Amino acid sequence: MQVSSNKIVILGTGGTIAGTAAARGDHVGYTAAQLGVAELVASVPALADVPLVAEQVAQLDSKDMDHATWRALALRVAHWLADTQVQGIVVTHGTDTLEETAWFLQQVLQPSKPVVLACAMRPATALVADGPQNLLDAVSVARHPGASGVVAVCAGAIHGAREVRKSHTYRLDAFDSGDAGPIGYVEQGGLRLLRGWPRPLPPQAALLARDAHEWPRVDIVSSHAGADARLVELLVADGTRGLIVAATGNGTVHKALEAALARAQQGGTRVLRATRCAQGRIIASADAAFADADDLSPVKARVSLMLSLGD
Ligand code: SIN
Repeated sequence: MQVSSNKIVILGTGGTIAGTAAARGDHVGYTAAQLGVAELVASVPALADVPLVAEQVAQLDSKDMDHATWRALALRVAHWLADTQVQGIVVTHGTDTLEETAWFLQQVLQPSKPVVLACAMRPATALVADGPQNLLDAVSVARHPGASGVVAVCAGAIHGAREVRKSHTYRLDAFDSGDAGPIGYVEQGGLRLLRGWPRPLPPQAALLARDAHEWPRVDIVSSHAGADARLVELLVADGTRGLIVAATGNGTVHKALEAALARAQQGGTRVLRATRCAQGRIIASADAAFADADDLSPVKARVSLMLSLGD
């Protein structure tokens, strides 16, 4: 592979994009993370002319993503970002936890170069696989002058790390960006931008210096009909450092759960409300008992709270 100052690095982590099925028409009964990243690159003839490096960082079904893999991935991304010959980075990833990884990488790295997550809804063996086009589109984004920050590319749409959310279980166009809408679209290798790239803030990278098993534990509880104090009490007794409550509507919490969370907070556990709603944000009120995560989903709020506890 060639090397130049507009080098693109493709880091493989597994997912359906690297998955295989016994039957070409099977979009569900496949095994994720079977093909190596070099094979994915080789399946896209248009990438032959792109100066790139492919590296396998992990090989997993992203439902099984863990903090050790996140740390390893972030360190490799940071390594390549520091290489002046690298223009941008693509990470191949499963769709199921892609939005969490995107938010984690954005928070710990705050990259001024593009870090583009690529994925697929169909395995590589499908009759009409979506992975090769998604990978090519992701490389187009990584090569785009002025692109920056962590984004995801799926079905021709570019989503920012903060907003991106898997919103469909099966369709090829499985992601959306809620009220904000996508950053733009990839069309025939060109970009049609609708709004700005994620803006870099100071990175929250302290946890990268520590083994993942030392990272502060943060759990998610849900406010729902029939909710009670039990889960919160068990988690606090088990030493959790933070609790995200997946709250109803504009951040409201079942009174039984709220009482337990208030006791947890008084005892030193950090509590943060994130809305269960797929769209919108929590509009803050001065008398709220617990802080809120604005527009972050519960799984992304968990990442943010864990990183802030590690600082
Ligand atoms: C995964 O998330 O690794 C499997 C599912 C997918 O990529 O669509």
